[in-house]
Amino acid sequence: MSFIDLAKNRYSCRKYNGESVSSEKLQAVLEAGRISPTAINAQPIVVKILKSEESLAKIRGITRMAYDAPVVLMVCYDLDKCYRAEKYGDDFNSGVMDASIVTTSMMMQATDLGLATLWARGFNAAEIEKAFDFPANLKLACLLDIGYADPEEGGPSPRHPVRKTMAEFAQEI
Ligand SMILES: Cc1cc2nc3c(=O)[nH]c(=O)nc-3n(C[C@H](O)[C@H](O)[C@H](O)COP(=O)(O)O)c2cc1C
Repeated sequence: MSFIDLAKNRYSCRKYNGESVSSEKLQAVLEAGRISPTAINAQPIVVKILKSEESLAKIRGITRMAYDAPVVLMVCYDLDKCYRAEKYGDDFNSGVMDASIVTTSMMMQATDLGLATLWARGFNAAEIEKAFDFPANLKLACLLDIGYADPEEGGPSPRHPVRKTMAEFAQEI
């Protein structure tokens, strides 16, 4: 499948069919994240894998954004290792941006393997960091839910194909 077809194939899945994800597929997804670029190659990203009944119950007890996915990846960044643009008089730190490209790579690799995914950030990150005993420097950027789509209820939402026109999206200046 070409990259553009893969990108068009991906959608947010909010209902999974109960089938587990093989360790080979999970490793391939994680590898796509591991080799992703990060600012100055600082590699501040750490992924916490939730797939045991206990871990999944714990995250589902805090946020409904884990849905019923058999694997939930917590994409985290180490604040002490992020690139900072201080020398340019800018308070930017690369944590969320680095986490985003890592998550995108893992999401697209999962899609290529026939898995369904959901990127989620609708939760109180501090609450989750506390519940999972994160050290102060480790911040949760987002969750990536992974599994197999339920054939009846796991399809794309009606809003999935709604996108800006190209003219609204990109303009030459
Ligand atoms: C940064 C980000 C945060 C998101 N957070 C959530 C979330 O908390 N819960 C949820 O159900 N979907 C979440 N989504 C999924 C978006 O709602 C979804 O990508 C968007 O509606 C477009 O639909 P599609 O992915 O099917 O194309 C998030 C997506 C992104 C990129």
